[in-house]
Amino acid sequence: MKEYAADYYECIEDAKAELRSNARPELKKYLTDISQYDNIVVAGPCWWGTYPMAVFSQLEKLDFTGKKVFPVMTHEGSGQAGSAAALKKHCKGAAVGNGLAVHGADAAKSERTVAGWAKKELG
Ligand SMILES: Cc1cc2nc3c(=O)[nH]c(=O)nc-3n(C[C@H](O)[C@H](O)[C@H](O)COP(=O)(O)O)c2cc1C
Repeated sequence: MKEYAADYYECIEDAKAELRSNARPELKKYLTDISQYDNIVVAGPCWWGTYPMAVFSQLEKLDFTGKKVFPVMTHEGSGQAGSAAALKKHCKGAAVGNGLAVHGADAAKSERTVAGWAKKELG
């Protein structure tokens, strides 16, 4: 299990290498069964325009047949970036709903925005 560097710039370089090599970093823990859920929100930070590759390590282990997935991405300028396209690719069999972008620096004070989005999109 590899830990990411605490240093921002080092982490950025590691993440770029993982993206370039289409890596699937191992997670400490995986979800194995999402059969009891219909709607699934995949929230994560924007790393080089998409989710961290470790998110795909998890998504590829799950069966999304008949599910609806919603991209939520924190970012520092890229907005939703490639989040919807990534879910289309990595959540085989799922429909992709409207997503949400949250400015990373404002994440702690975005509860109302997130709740409003969830109410509108997920009911
Ligand atoms: C490796 C790495 C790559 C990043 N790439 C982007 C990017 O392409 N676009 C962007 O808007 N923000 C980018 N960011 C900023 C993150 O999206 C931002 O730090 C995150 O959303 C805030 O969550 P955090 O506090 O968990 O880092 C990057 C950050 C890291 C560490």
